[in-house]
Amino acid sequence: MRTTEATARRSENAKRGTDLEPADEREPGTGQDRDGARDRATGQGRVAGQERIAERLLRSTAARSYDPELDINWAAPPEPDKVFLPPHRSSLYGTPLYERLSPQQRRELGKHEAASVAGTGIWLEFILLRLLAKLAYHGDPASRHVQYALAEMAEECRHSTMFARLIEWMGTPGYRPPRLVQRLGKMLPTVAYGPAMWGAILIGEELTDRYQREMVTDESVQPLIRMVNRIHIMEEARHIGFARAELARSAAQLSRAELPYHRALIGRTAYIVARNLISPEVYRSVGLDPDYAHRVALANPAHQATIRFGGEKIVAFLTEAGLVGAPGMYWWRKSYLLP
Ligand SMILES: [Fe+2]
Ligand SMILES: [Fe+2]
Repeated sequence: MRTTEATARRSENAKRGTDLEPADEREPGTGQDRDGARDRATGQGRVAGQERIAERLLRSTAARSYDPELDINWAAPPEPDKVFLPPHRSSLYGTPLYERLSPQQRRELGKHEAASVAGTGIWLEFILLRLLAKLAYHGDPASRHVQYALAEMAEECRHSTMFARLIEWMGTPGYRPPRLVQRLGKMLPTVAYGPAMWGAILIGEELTDRYQREMVTDESVQPLIRMVNRIHIMEEARHIGFARAELARSAAQLSRAELPYHRALIGRTAYIVARNLISPEVYRSVGLDPDYAHRVALANPAHQATIRFGGEKIVAFLTEAGLVGAPGMYWWRKSYLLP
């Protein structure tokens, strides 16, 4: 109920909406914190370090989380003079094909591209839920570590519902990656562990996070979309902090023989995420042939720069962790994520 204390707090958070990058949630992700270095030295210390980070994130979750059902006014119609996606992030931006579209068609295409990112986001969160469930299944429920994984799963469930409602609000089809990619995604929780698992999680979370951060302060964008982004950024800051700390810890324990497997899996995942955010089907919304427009988009330097922009931070982080390299380079190069 709206009158409960928790709801009042959430609404207050939603109105405030300024503390988008709580430093305490990003800090452990660097993998360079003193606690982390000490914790890696001993198994016992490692567990203590994990528990400390999980405890802090659980406290943050209790203090700052949202219920998009209550915190977003889904009854508000789209504003006629606002866009759904900044034009320079449209996959055809700058091409002769884009120039030939009317302003209304460009706005419509942006709406379908935003819906495609939301649809792929839901698909990624379904995979993420299975990866986190795997961690919880094998862990100790009495640990703060597993309890934080459960708290993160609860947030991801709400995010998926929020993105689903966003698609419903925009009135577009629910875009999804192609069948083969869906099948590969289904296999990931079975084959990924340690650095490959956390790397896959981070690629999914950090790419979308970068676009959302850019849009949240852009007043030409629909206010409802900015609010969705604000909620997601705030909660993902914790998830990214958790995953970065876990990746750093698990990468430090990796043997030389295991490294190629993790690099290959991370490279393949990076390619899949980067190349499936925009479904070729979106081009039908403005009367373009999906195959042709998709080819134009892939060859478009502005679109390639957009993909690179999305991956800038996570690629630097994974490179520093030694996880970008052979035999994954074929997929990294094809992903357009490399600088
Ligand atoms: Fe999420
Ligand atoms: Fe997340």
